[in-house]
Amino acid sequence: MTDTKKSATLSFDGKSFELPIYSPTAGPDVLDIRKLYAQAGVFTYDPGFTSTASCDSTITYIDGIKGELLHRGYPIDQLAGKSHYLEVCYLLLYGNLPSAAELEEFEDRVTRHTMLHEQMMYLFRGFRRDAHPMAIITGAVGAMSAFYHDSLDITDPWQREVASVRMIAKMPTIVSMAYKYTLGQPFVYPRNDLDYASNFLRMCFAVPAEEYEVNPILSRAMDRIFTLHADHEQNASTSTVRLASSSGANPFACIAAGVACLWGPSHGGANQACLEMLKEIGTVDRIPEFIARAKDKDDPFRLMGFGHRVYKNTDPRATVLKQSADEVLELLGVENNPILQVAKELEKQAISDPYFAEKKLFPNVDFYSGIILEAMGFPTSMFTPIFALSRTVGWISQWKEMIADPQNKIGRPRQLYLGETTRDYVDIEDR
Ligand code: ACO
Repeated sequence: MTDTKKSATLSFDGKSFELPIYSPTAGPDVLDIRKLYAQAGVFTYDPGFTSTASCDSTITYIDGIKGELLHRGYPIDQLAGKSHYLEVCYLLLYGNLPSAAELEEFEDRVTRHTMLHEQMMYLFRGFRRDAHPMAIITGAVGAMSAFYHDSLDITDPWQREVASVRMIAKMPTIVSMAYKYTLGQPFVYPRNDLDYASNFLRMCFAVPAEEYEVNPILSRAMDRIFTLHADHEQNASTSTVRLASSSGANPFACIAAGVACLWGPSHGGANQACLEMLKEIGTVDRIPEFIARAKDKDDPFRLMGFGHRVYKNTDPRATVLKQSADEVLELLGVENNPILQVAKELEKQAISDPYFAEKKLFPNVDFYSGIILEAMGFPTSMFTPIFALSRTVGWISQWKEMIADPQNKIGRPRQLYLGETTRDYVDIEDR
């Protein structure tokens, strides 16, 4: 952040207060209100943090108007087209694209941490078989704190590094085990001769009774989904991870908090909700009815997979995924999939409707990801877990950045209190 020597003047209660202004490398200037309460005795009010920068960061930048998403400066469409997930993980974690030797060493380290402590099997077996995989994953990630005592000390940079690699390496194993458990099938152990995405597909779809060959086209599509979801600056789950870690909590506990936050239908749960909505619509002729419902103020229904807090023009991830959906479905020979037809027509009708145009509502990343995942054979309950797997590197990168920041202090928002003022306790017989 650059000190611009600019400042804003706030006039309040007959007094003036100077607020420093900082300029970022991209995006709007930022007013520094850190001393506001001490100097002026007032708080700022911003539920939902629509105008509040909670930290400084060098990892990811979003220009919601241009529809641009950059990781360490690199546009997401270039990364999705030319790079792959583990290289993007390296970029997010360490700030630059790796050399060939650095990438090989990093991939080797991640690959050698893919197995879970065997005792964790019993943790999985304690869940009901009909549990949502996100419930199991939230528990399993938090439980890692009980198994990996040598990577809990957040003041030790080496332990932070080991915890980071462990999380990225073990998340596919945890997510696939949660899936296998709900199916009632045996767990499939990781195979270190496979790449990250192929290993995950095998752990999800192989059974011990027969050989499983990973389809390279599906593996590439899976890797692209991981890449597109890798990080998204200070969204709800990432902010949850940062807030949890501001207390000094261990990395596994913090990531478990992020997984829990991601589960909600306004965030990572939207891809599941979106596919369910597309199935409910079912046929193209019913689209106007659902668009009318989404526009009706008295109906809580919203078009799932539409709208975004930051993107107000286009979500660049949705553009890549729309193309991927076409490719994957064609390769699988299901290009006439009725759900894809409904999705495409719904997008067409909604974006040409003045309601959606005025409110700047466009398809977001969740609109097409569910269609691809379903074509690959995943049930809707696995959509959010796959998002959690992909986003783990983003959470970890933001967590590492925060811990290393000397400005790091416990997060403690204030409030606009509207409750009762002091009143005396009344004994029960007198109420
Ligand atoms: N369908 C219909 N109307 C909508 C939709 C939608 N999907 N999204 C927003 N609106 C309307 C709201 O009713 C509101 O109208 P009003 O101004 O007349 O009251 C206006 O647009 C602004 O909506 P907010 O909820 O204030 O916008 P916010 O930025 O807080 O919400 C959000 C963004 C949560 C993503 C919202 O658009 C939404 O609920 N979308 C559907 C769920 C979804 O797809 N979530 C995935 C987000 S991406 C991700 O997490 C990876």
